[in-house]
Amino acid sequence: MKVVHTVNDLREQVAKWHRDGLTVGFVPTMGNLHDGHLALIDEARKYADRVLASIFVNPMQFGKGEDYANYPRTLERDRQLLETHHASLLFAPGVEEMYPLPLSEQTRVEVPGLSDILCGASRPGHFAGVATIVCKLFNMAQPDVALFGEKDYQQLLVIRQMVRDLAMPVEIISYPTVRESDGLAMSSRNAYLSEDQRRVAPKLHAMLEETQTALMQGNSDFEGLEARAVDVLAVAGFEVDYFSIRDAGTLSIPLAGSDELVILAAARLGSTRLIDNLAVTPG
Ligand code: PAJ
Repeated sequence: MKVVHTVNDLREQVAKWHRDGLTVGFVPTMGNLHDGHLALIDEARKYADRVLASIFVNPMQFGKGEDYANYPRTLERDRQLLETHHASLLFAPGVEEMYPLPLSEQTRVEVPGLSDILCGASRPGHFAGVATIVCKLFNMAQPDVALFGEKDYQQLLVIRQMVRDLAMPVEIISYPTVRESDGLAMSSRNAYLSEDQRRVAPKLHAMLEETQTALMQGNSDFEGLEARAVDVLAVAGFEVDYFSIRDAGTLSIPLAGSDELVILAAARLGSTRLIDNLAVTPG
């Protein structure tokens, strides 16, 4: 697997593949790779002849006081894992390569509406940071297909809307959340949890499942189910940011009788913010 650090080297390799009639599948990441990321790499191989991964901890999507400085950076280990999973190329740019100008002077991509609710409400500017970097990466890499995890469900919808609104010539494929054996969604941030917090963490997924079951059994008291989940999680030690039943396509508050729902949750254990979600087709 080749590793490149500059946009020029990236473009040269991808242009060569395209000249040779090969398609390119792209998996953007912030590194510290786990089995969730690696499942996306494996999946990408089903859609494209060559698999490109990127590793870039994007300062624009972190708010003040968030974990940008401490975010785990494990490039050599990540490179070996990508090699084992037969990625074709790794793009690992430095901050100056991606943002030659100060962030305040950088053109931004704003996806309205979707970016302001749920995670966007507690992390202002986060989804503009995500949309901007993914747009730049798409322009730099020109992939045919790009893969994103359903674990970051709101992010996936933001990216789909950006691609649609700006007519970007890339197909977006999503992949189900990869979990630990106890249900906890895999995340680079799980490494921040203490032993005690790690024992409590799977309760977030358990509560999503409990709510999913109630919805499938025909319970349509969305507010009641949400309030109960917040209470149970608070007693378990979480500081709940939101626990919300939404329309799966738009993330708007669903009407009773909506047939495609998603339950989304974000909650803190100490200073670690965990997110998770589950799709539901109500009974
Ligand atoms: P990162 O958190 O590194 O995630 C990279 C990709 O892996 C995203 O598409 C994410 O949804 C997916 N992913 C993470 N954990 C997963 C899991 N447990 N199961 C399945 N997929 C999982 O998301 C980002 O980086 C950044 O915001 C990025 C899109 C790279 C832009 O900077």
